[in-house]
Amino acid sequence: MKTRIADGIDWTGYIDWPVRNFHGYTTSRGSTYNAYLVRAGKTALIDTVKAPYAQNLLDSVAALCPLGKVDYVVCNHAEPDHSGALPAVMAAMPQATLVTNAKCADALSRHYDTSSWKIEIVNEGDSLDLGGKTLKFYMTPMAHWPESMVTYVPEDKLLFSMDILGQHYASSARFDVEADLAEVFQEAKTYYANIVLLYARPAAAALKKLSTLELSTVCPSHGVIWTKHLPEIVAKYLDWAPSRPAKKVVVFYGTMWGSTRKMAEAIAAGAESRGTVEVKLMDLNAADDTDVVRELMDCGAFAAGSPTLNMGILPRVAKTLTYVRGLRPADKHAFAFGSYGWGSKGAEEANGYLESFGCKIMRPPLTVRFAPDAATLEACRAAGAELADAAAAAADSWGK
Ligand code: FEO
Repeated sequence: MKTRIADGIDWTGYIDWPVRNFHGYTTSRGSTYNAYLVRAGKTALIDTVKAPYAQNLLDSVAALCPLGKVDYVVCNHAEPDHSGALPAVMAAMPQATLVTNAKCADALSRHYDTSSWKIEIVNEGDSLDLGGKTLKFYMTPMAHWPESMVTYVPEDKLLFSMDILGQHYASSARFDVEADLAEVFQEAKTYYANIVLLYARPAAAALKKLSTLELSTVCPSHGVIWTKHLPEIVAKYLDWAPSRPAKKVVVFYGTMWGSTRKMAEAIAAGAESRGTVEVKLMDLNAADDTDVVRELMDCGAFAAGSPTLNMGILPRVAKTLTYVRGLRPADKHAFAFGSYGWGSKGAEEANGYLESFGCKIMRPPLTVRFAPDAATLEACRAAGAELADAAAAAADSWGK
């Protein structure tokens, strides 16, 4: 496998082709846990991999350099997909010094027994001279954990960017120019929506700071390495940061006996009838929360449907709304809808979720007892048309 990233810098990560669940995020195209070996006068390993793949990492490093010759292990981020192999790595390389910031050292000590590790604490702008190459460290707090940092190699204009600009994307390609770009950008957007969105501001601040560096290569902790298409992905990040609304409407729903589905289809048809917006209709029996969040991130308006089950919201819909609430897509126009039998609570509870994460509620929940009649379906179409108008207006007025 090709591992060379630059002269003296190799990829030593692990490609997790089959992984499909990343703490609830559905990773449809797998993932990679990227680690890198920098060899100059001294040698540094940049980040590690998930714990089960520690031996794979050690084998990759050993193929390039004796483990006893590794001088430093840099930890940019304590989340276990990158730090999980640290106990095995530090045991296999007892001579190595772990280089990280104070918050990260503290986080690591709460995950692992770090008492025997040699640890060197670095701060914003500190450098580590490897002899021929330099590692410079920049703090990127809350992008996306408090202890997050990145490592820059000025001699190569190369940045190890941690999760920033990452994608859950398993591929034999190591670089953007070798990969299917449509897939890579879609996975980058999905990653942003599901991992970065809640921390959009600190992530944008980190990117702006890092953009002042001379950069030709950015090596994230997941997915492909950015070279030729670096300006595009940076532009996309800055565009995604404020959840800029597109002329797009999303209608997602759960259904028990098809009544809420009929309402959803009528709302979507009403939105389409305007001819001004793209419409995405997502049945939660088929759609995944990971994809719902990606579509919501840049929609102009959306509707959420739930029937009433046992005097409350359908659990499948509550799961999606709980997930969406955690990521808080900002400033969306929205309303709730759904059918009920003898107590109307599903749509009302859905409406409560929308209120809880700051949606601009367009109307009271649209409900019907049992199956929707012609009048109800007409009301749904009208509400859908209003949804389209709200999305188009939000997109047109953006930034004005
Ligand atoms: Fe890929 Fe925040 O860990």
